[in-house]
Amino acid sequence: MRGPQLMTYKVSLQDNQRQFEVQEDETLLEAALYQEIGLPYGCQSGGCGACRARIVSGEVEYDYDPPALSEREKAEGYALLCQARPRSDLVIQVEELPDHHAIQVRNMPVRVERREQLCHDVMALWLRLPKGEAFEYLAGQYLDFLLRDGRRRSFSIANSPAEFRRTGLLELHLRHVPEGSFTAHVFNEMTDRAMLRMEAPLGGFYLREDNERPIVFMAGGTGFAPIKSMIEHALERKLDRPMHLYWGVRARRDLYMSDLAEQWQAKNPSLRFTPVLSEATEEDQWPGKRGLVHEAVAEDHPDMRDLDVYMSGPPVMIQAASKQFSSQGLPDGQLHYDSFDYAYQTWPDKEASTG
Ligand code: FES
Repeated sequence: MRGPQLMTYKVSLQDNQRQFEVQEDETLLEAALYQEIGLPYGCQSGGCGACRARIVSGEVEYDYDPPALSEREKAEGYALLCQARPRSDLVIQVEELPDHHAIQVRNMPVRVERREQLCHDVMALWLRLPKGEAFEYLAGQYLDFLLRDGRRRSFSIANSPAEFRRTGLLELHLRHVPEGSFTAHVFNEMTDRAMLRMEAPLGGFYLREDNERPIVFMAGGTGFAPIKSMIEHALERKLDRPMHLYWGVRARRDLYMSDLAEQWQAKNPSLRFTPVLSEATEEDQWPGKRGLVHEAVAEDHPDMRDLDVYMSGPPVMIQAASKQFSSQGLPDGQLHYDSFDYAYQTWPDKEASTG
């Protein structure tokens, strides 16, 4: 219920003239979603930057400094909609998601249909939805498992919407996190046909099909999952755009679906695949690229002005890559990302100082 005595402000979206109302105690994102305005978001806790928007006019305030917004971005007029509360009427510049009204966030039980260990520390889960339930998502979006103790665990959907419609199954890639009780449960105790509850689809990471620019996809570890969904979707839709997939992992054994990526490349002249190992061992006998995946992308594409980049992986990779790519001319609006923990085992130390 909305409190009667709180101040209500008006927020206008600069690009499409739509408006919504927000109370002083609400975040802009909460109010927008409540009024069915589809804005991009991810973590909803100030940590990923997916809800970044430009404040064209007006004032906002934060309860605390959100980690994914630098002082410089603040000074340049950017805000994180999942944390910002209004202090005046506002005009903001942000991309509204397409067809938001058609894609409803659902809360429903799902059954684990199948599990398959893909490599030493990654498990695929296939989930079946209740019969007769309509469910739609965009390639690249994620779901939250709602656990009994009230916590949530987020996982990207790894298959394309068309494949889901064919099979009725949602595919996830879970990396085993030693200190993570949920993934430990999935690896060690979960029985087939286990029941879980999910909320989905979530997030603003999806493939933009309104332009012809070449695409770079960059994945770190299990950040491959949403990228896989996007590439399958792009190939099914026969998108006529050059695509280059970079997949960064530590060692050869972490490339848990490289055969699939090789097949994409063999069958589609417009798609290239470059795996990048950051800690290749002698045993790997690795003839390919070494180092950090975003450095490989930056080296191959010195001028990024005419690219679209989609990247998914751990926050430190996303932060280093965003800085690097922007210094090579990539416009903000052409960079799309999904930032999540546990995608990649401990990111190499030197990454922290990159960029
Ligand atoms: Fe706002 Fe992640 S920072 S959704």
